[in-house]
Amino acid sequence: MGKFCHCNTLCVVCSVLGALAVATIVALWVVQLTFYVRPADPWDDHRLPPSLVPDSYHVTLWPRLHPDGHGMFIFTGTSRVRFNCSRDTNLILLHSDKLTLTSKDGHLVKLTAVSGSTPVIRKSWLHPTNQYLVVQLNGVLRAGEAYDLYTEFEGQLADDLEGFYRSMYNEDGVEKILATSQMHPTHARKTFPCFDEPAMKAVFHITLVHERGTVALSNGLETGQAFSYCPEVVDTVIDGSLVTRTTFEPTKRMSTYLLALVVSDYSNVRIWARKKAIDADQGELALNLTGSVLNFLETYYDIPYPLSKSDHIALPDFYFGAMENWGLVTYKEANLLYDVTISSNGDRETTASIIAHEMAHMWFGNLVTLKWWNEVWLNEGFATYVSYLGADYAEPTWDIKDLFVLNEVHRVFTIDALATSHPLSSEEESIQTPAQIAELFDAISYSKVGWNLKKYCSQHHWIDSKPKNQSTYLTSFAYGNTESSDLWEHLQQVNNNGISLPGKVNEIMNHWTLQMGFPVVTIDTRMGQLSQTHFLLDPESKPKSRSEFNYEWIVPIQWRKSSQEISLTWLSGRHALNNNMKTSGDEWLLANINITGYFRVNYDSENWDRLLNQLNTDHKVLPVINRAQLIDDAFNLARANIIPISLALNTTRYLHQETGYIPWKSALNNFDYLYLMFGKSDIYILLQRYLKKQVEPLFLHFKNITLDWVNVPEEHSDQYNQVNALWVACSTGVDGCQNLTRMWFRQWMEQPEISWIHPNLRATVYCSAIAEGGTEEWDFAWKMMKNSSVASESDKLRAALSCSRDTWLLNRYLNFTLDQDKIRKQDATSTIVSIARSVHGQMLAWDFVRRNWEYMFTQYGVGSFSFASLISGVTASFSTEEELSQLLQFKMDNAAAGFGSATTALEQALERTRANIRWVSGKEQEIRSWFLHETSSK
Ligand SMILES: *[C@@H]1O[C@H](CO)[C@@H](O)[C@H](O)[C@H]1NC(C)=O
Ligand SMILES: *[C@@H]1O[C@H](CO)[C@@H](O)[C@H](O)[C@H]1NC(C)=O
Ligand SMILES: *[C@@H]1O[C@H](CO)[C@@H](O)[C@H](O)[C@H]1NC(C)=O
Ligand SMILES: *[C@@H]1O[C@H](CO)[C@@H](O)[C@H](O)[C@H]1NC(C)=O
Ligand SMILES: *[C@@H]1O[C@H](CO)[C@@H](O)[C@H](O)[C@H]1NC(C)=O
Ligand SMILES: *[C@@H]1O[C@H](CO)[C@@H](O)[C@H](O)[C@H]1NC(C)=O
Ligand SMILES: [Zn+2]
Repeated sequence: MGKFCHCNTLCVVCSVLGALAVATIVALWVVQLTFYVRPADPWDDHRLPPSLVPDSYHVTLWPRLHPDGHGMFIFTGTSRVRFNCSRDTNLILLHSDKLTLTSKDGHLVKLTAVSGSTPVIRKSWLHPTNQYLVVQLNGVLRAGEAYDLYTEFEGQLADDLEGFYRSMYNEDGVEKILATSQMHPTHARKTFPCFDEPAMKAVFHITLVHERGTVALSNGLETGQAFSYCPEVVDTVIDGSLVTRTTFEPTKRMSTYLLALVVSDYSNVRIWARKKAIDADQGELALNLTGSVLNFLETYYDIPYPLSKSDHIALPDFYFGAMENWGLVTYKEANLLYDVTISSNGDRETTASIIAHEMAHMWFGNLVTLKWWNEVWLNEGFATYVSYLGADYAEPTWDIKDLFVLNEVHRVFTIDALATSHPLSSEEESIQTPAQIAELFDAISYSKVGWNLKKYCSQHHWIDSKPKNQSTYLTSFAYGNTESSDLWEHLQQVNNNGISLPGKVNEIMNHWTLQMGFPVVTIDTRMGQLSQTHFLLDPESKPKSRSEFNYEWIVPIQWRKSSQEISLTWLSGRHALNNNMKTSGDEWLLANINITGYFRVNYDSENWDRLLNQLNTDHKVLPVINRAQLIDDAFNLARANIIPISLALNTTRYLHQETGYIPWKSALNNFDYLYLMFGKSDIYILLQRYLKKQVEPLFLHFKNITLDWVNVPEEHSDQYNQVNALWVACSTGVDGCQNLTRMWFRQWMEQPEISWIHPNLRATVYCSAIAEGGTEEWDFAWKMMKNSSVASESDKLRAALSCSRDTWLLNRYLNFTLDQDKIRKQDATSTIVSIARSVHGQMLAWDFVRRNWEYMFTQYGVGSFSFASLISGVTASFSTEEELSQLLQFKMDNAAAGFGSATTALEQALERTRANIRWVSGKEQEIRSWFLHETSSK
């Protein structure tokens, strides 16, 4: 699945209370077992019993795109599932959620033995607590026999973005409804009764019944129409209305969560979208990319794409970035559609990397699937890593792979440094309920393993270039399910004649997957001493569980001295001595070159001084990724009280000479934390003054190379950094910046049909103009947002509207998020969070969330991911005792309703607030005097 948010702000939060996985391979000692009491009845257990294994489904569904007499949108359906019995049983248990069983003859469930005798049904009922349909029998199902279970049912085609749901858009003043689906991870059961676990793979025969003139899509090709874009469908009369019935070729053996269904009146080129969007060629980039990325991946994996078609569809209402349904990938509109004249370079990169991510899943995830959700990273880690390779293939001049550290590693570092983080692999039994499953889709599962895999695999050329036998893992488990030990075994085989490692692959990797967190490696260049400790952002926090590896890792350290070549040193165990790491004179030592390792680095203070000296004299001697890393490591070490904050701030003194995007972005992300903590204090002014001083040369640099903002910088990363330059210059008041953005925005207001503002710069120009402007600017931007037919453009405007400094406007905007006609449900959370990110919106957003929590909680679906990001987003700036007690009060007030998938996020918010309070009071004085010193000199 695609990350549900592609921004660099805090959109992802973890996690699951980490009970340690019992490694099947390494039978070391197990420190903490989740005490797991077997429930009394099988239907009280969240997991299906293993006695029945599905083989195939025949499902017919009929979504009604018009409300019935009671104003309800519904769908009806029938399903026949064939399953094999592997152990005698008198019980059939399958998932069914929010469905009503219907029947014309009084038998809600019909059972037939494929051969032999059929036991009589004693009793059947729905068990909503665990989303089951329970069928008890008088006789027994015999091991080795197959049975068919037939049901008819009705469900709601709600606008809840889960299961089979409805989405709405407006085209030329006409309101249009479409039916679409999101089964991942546990919503197939909301569409038809099924064995809804990823290892319960089966073949699906789908039929969709729909109004004439609409198009039906599913995973398989419309039957008998291979390679045709206009399926010939048969009209039939059902229940008195004339409809179309489209049947699809059976799927491959696959998991229920990969199923997809769409009924709409869309236009296509196998890129499906609103007719107007397709007419405007917004699907062209996606069409270009899907073809070339598919070819790239076929070669890369050395396995042909196994399906006869690959559909990609853009949906007006879709919560996640995208979903890799096999053969029918669904996207948020902004992620798939691209308008050459209106979209930015960032939009282009987003489209390329999300398409690459979803296409990578066609093999990792769909062909070979995780056994259970406790190892989500087996799907997502690979897809995340391979998405960079695919996007790099599509845009070879963009150096997209360089952005991995900034976009993925830094993001996951901040979360994985919390005591409430979780190991990549959780214990299978600790992940049971849909809410627990939902919580696992966090940065850790996506980004951490991506990096770890790269670390080991690229060295063996196992991933970066195609090895001879890489396919063994994918081919051995094709159409099946795996767990991490299977992967390590295959990696081991690949590596057997490869480079030497300080242990077996599984032994090394288990350190990284079975225990949470990562180390800070300290190098003392005076003695050549090396050591590692578990890096915790809050030094007073304690991990909830002990680790079977004692929070030690086997760490590959790439390092060099100023005068030497790169060396590789493995650190296993707490301490080591390496005489080569001693330095003398003004020679510096730099470790973790290009961040090939998942750890932070600290040095003795002399070496820090020498590195900073290098930055200040000729920063280009250090690789650009490491310049960013020195800043990020230093700020985080300072947050953990390992080094003084003034040392971290010192890493930013050279920025007035820096033009590189990655170091600037890294510094701004870290300053962002200071803004959150000190936005309401006198330090705010000092921060502004300092950044203004540092950014001015960058602003002038871009003014110069773009010939007064006329040209576009050549390099992709310069295009990004131009945005940073404008953003910081305007918000700190660099001369000429606000004048510029105000002028562009004014021109646009006067002549909205003319493209006055370059697409790359729009997000930041809109924000600056709305921040400086008043109701007139706000209302204009709102109107343009509602009228825009390009999703990425309306997303930019939606974000910019939160930049206002006007309390009344912000409050009104918050109110809009509860009105679906104004802000779509999928966008409500991110809108509230972006208001909460600004100094002016922080308190307003928190008050709003407190006031409306109960309403939102019941309206937005309990399994939804949005609550976690809502809680972490609105509490990000909390750093006072007053805010802490409000948060505790909030927890108490809503204890009865609970917090669903935000449960962990709330605990983390409390933990973070306490840490912030300690940190701010401990550092405030030092920070104030550092800024005073820096801004008063000269
Ligand atoms: C798609 O590819 C064609 C042919 O290479 C090219 O002319 C066109 O500009 C591409 N479209 C986009 C949006 O990149
Ligand atoms: C580090 O990354 C840069 C690209 O950012 C690359 O040019 C350079 O060769 C890399 N250095 C090493 C030692 O891998
Ligand atoms: C930060 O830089 C200033 C100016 O060079 C220096 O005086 C100070 O000692 C540095 N602080 C630390 C903690 O290194
Ligand atoms: C402006 O750009 C030109 C080349 O485009 C360069 O020679 C000059 O030094 C730049 N000036 C500044 C102030 O950066
Ligand atoms: C703003 O920019 C315009 C156009 O460059 C210029 O004419 C005007 O004098 C500037 N205004 C201020 C206040 O700097
Ligand atoms: C927002 O909604 C609340 C409650 O419905 C109302 O009291 C308030 O006046 C509204 N605020 C604005 C600015 O519309
Ligand atoms: Zn994914």
